[in-house]
Amino acid sequence: MNKQTWKIPGGFILGAAASAWQTEGWDGKRPSQDSYLDMWYKNDPHVWHEGYGPAVATDFYNRYKEDIQYMKEIGLTHYRTSINWSRFLLDYETAEVDEVYAGYLDDVINELIRCGVEPMICLEHYEIPAVLFEKYGGWGSKDVIDLFAAYAEKAFERYGDRVKYWFTFNEPIVPQTRIYLDALRYPYEQNTKKWMQWNFNKALATARVIKLFQAGKHVYREDAKIGVILNQEVAYARSSAPHDQQAAFIYDLFFNRVFLDPSIKGVYPDELMELLIKHDILFDHDKEELDIIRKHTVDFVGINLYHPQRVKAPSRQWNESTPFHPAYYYEHFQLPGRKMNPYRGWEIYPRIVYDMGMRLKNEYGNIGWLIAENGMGVEQEERFKNEEGIIQDDYRIAFISSHLAEAMKAIAAGSNCKGYMLWAFTDNVSPMNAFKNRYGLVEIQLEENRNRVLKKSADFYRNIIENRQFETDEFTYK
Ligand code: BG6
Repeated sequence: MNKQTWKIPGGFILGAAASAWQTEGWDGKRPSQDSYLDMWYKNDPHVWHEGYGPAVATDFYNRYKEDIQYMKEIGLTHYRTSINWSRFLLDYETAEVDEVYAGYLDDVINELIRCGVEPMICLEHYEIPAVLFEKYGGWGSKDVIDLFAAYAEKAFERYGDRVKYWFTFNEPIVPQTRIYLDALRYPYEQNTKKWMQWNFNKALATARVIKLFQAGKHVYREDAKIGVILNQEVAYARSSAPHDQQAAFIYDLFFNRVFLDPSIKGVYPDELMELLIKHDILFDHDKEELDIIRKHTVDFVGINLYHPQRVKAPSRQWNESTPFHPAYYYEHFQLPGRKMNPYRGWEIYPRIVYDMGMRLKNEYGNIGWLIAENGMGVEQEERFKNEEGIIQDDYRIAFISSHLAEAMKAIAAGSNCKGYMLWAFTDNVSPMNAFKNRYGLVEIQLEENRNRVLKKSADFYRNIIENRQFETDEFTYK
């Protein structure tokens, strides 16, 4: 087998990610503090794998000290989580802070720093308060942008002195795609216009929050930065023929550039605007709002990369009674012989990292970026335990190495890639899939009081952080 050794540049971030709602659990949460996720879970627990949801999650709220010890032991340089907006405030209209939850966050941040792990904080990882969904229709409303900005200001005031890396949203496109395009999540409404309005309002909210962050920067850490985390489905056309190329181009406009362009360049692509007008899904906006987006772009960008998206030109008739859906212009395409993660149903194609790095270099001014999430969710990992009860997750080690190698290639080719954050630090709850697919370096034993046990990959990760190098060879995914 051909082995290759990769050297990791000094200062390259090697961390792990998670979110508030997927780890904390409801302990200490007041009845008025449900998030959208809590509301959805309460309405439809049966669609969550084996009924697990955010209620207990990994109980990080009570066990963060233990978890941070493990982070220290592994040597994580950075840990990313979110503030749960719905718990951080007592009153979303006046932005009155819940001192108990705010104090808990203070402790988490201090403990991370004390243990040598730099915190990265995201303001929204799908945790919009349920009442704002009910009262205003969630992110469809411009009022919610004002409330989000007021919340963000409070968060910056509290933690800006210690937190260097801030993000406005994690994967801002995802909730509305699942709710309003695919109708897979509560309240299961197919409404493409609402989908696009949510997209726009979140891009505007990012710009508004960046504006106020810049205004208050003198009181935050001197080197503080703000960005957004975008999931990019790097799109590959089935063929070089113009019809397939066009399908990939349009897919990319609707699902990638819809956030990439306003966030980094401050403008929407003309081709996207034309399609929105053509299909009557243009968002409500005015010149002043576009101006805010133009003037307040991100300092850096986090990119979540899990799998490629392969598309081809559509071959079937569109049903005229269906509301417009971007799939009018494409169909998904499965590459025969592709490598798969069968548990998550995602193709494994590490090259997405290199291609994304080159795209940011060539089309987005070589902005500083990091892989904000990448990882492999596997079902029933207990079958891979050795005699000592340690999960031998060689498939995860192969997954991480192969994606990290592509980041190293991108850096060698001039990409401004600053780091790699694994999803996830511990196993945690996913929307609907709950604890089905395990992503962590650390196993959570659900039936054993949620005990934590380090997997083989934790050892591997500690090693590469310590030695700043790793090897790749040929591997198989089982
Ligand atoms: C990202 C999200 O989409 O992928 C995480 O930011 C999520 O919240 C992760 O858990 C893995 O995806 P899934 O659907 O398997 O949980």
